[in-house]
Amino acid sequence: MSQLADREQSQPEPLKIPVHIGIIMDGNGRWARARRLPRQAGHRAGTENLRRIIEACADLGVRILTVYAFSTENWGRPESEVQGLLNILEHVIDRELADLHAQGVQLRHIGVLEALSDNLQNKVRGAIELTQSNQRLVLNIAWNYGGRQEIVEAVRRIVSTGISPDEITEATIDRFLFTAGLPDPDLIIRTSGEMRVSNFMIWQGAYSEYYVTPTFWPSFNRAELEKAIAVFSQRERRFGLAPDQT
Ligand code: FPP
Repeated sequence: MSQLADREQSQPEPLKIPVHIGIIMDGNGRWARARRLPRQAGHRAGTENLRRIIEACADLGVRILTVYAFSTENWGRPESEVQGLLNILEHVIDRELADLHAQGVQLRHIGVLEALSDNLQNKVRGAIELTQSNQRLVLNIAWNYGGRQEIVEAVRRIVSTGISPDEITEATIDRFLFTAGLPDPDLIIRTSGEMRVSNFMIWQGAYSEYYVTPTFWPSFNRAELEKAIAVFSQRERRFGLAPDQT
């Protein structure tokens, strides 16, 4: 074997960077409990970590990051925790928006905003409008989001347009989801070790690659993100086809 061929053989495969990563940011409560801190301290540490992961994703060339921040089921948590999470959302918009905008982050939201106060709805809408032309990274925040609720909403809106049943295709459903216009996530990461989808992007994740790490979300750092991407790079994505067809 020539030296060049030898060298080429020993070169590691370049990483495949996912276009769209979804993250189920789990484990804030357990991170806090392990440090004898209140749960809200875990959510605050999780929010700080999100800043680091946004920067790492943008730096690595990920185009879209969807984070599961508040599910439709999270309303059932103690009122003080729900209020604490709403305060975090407001705090992020008040204190971090200018920085995110300067970094070229485009903010989007999936879920039902109408459940929030008028003031918070206006802030979220203002943030989306301000950043709508940014191109470095789309940060899609799932807030008051549930995959089943998203599909119910889509069906309602499809029916109300009067489309005939035989005209409805998968592409029709895609167009009526909160994520309309965005590609499906290539990689969905769940922190804290739970092997559950928890109602996150259940339509869009049909062919996503899943990666679960035992690390709690506040400790999920850039090295862990790179490891998840390296594992993703090694996966053979066949989308239901036979090996020789892909
Ligand atoms: C799950 O951990 C985490 C949440 C329900 C909240 C995640 C929210 C953030 C990190 C804030 C992000 C903020 C914005 C504005 C995007 P858990 O509380 O269920 O943890 P546990 O399972 O260990 O109790």
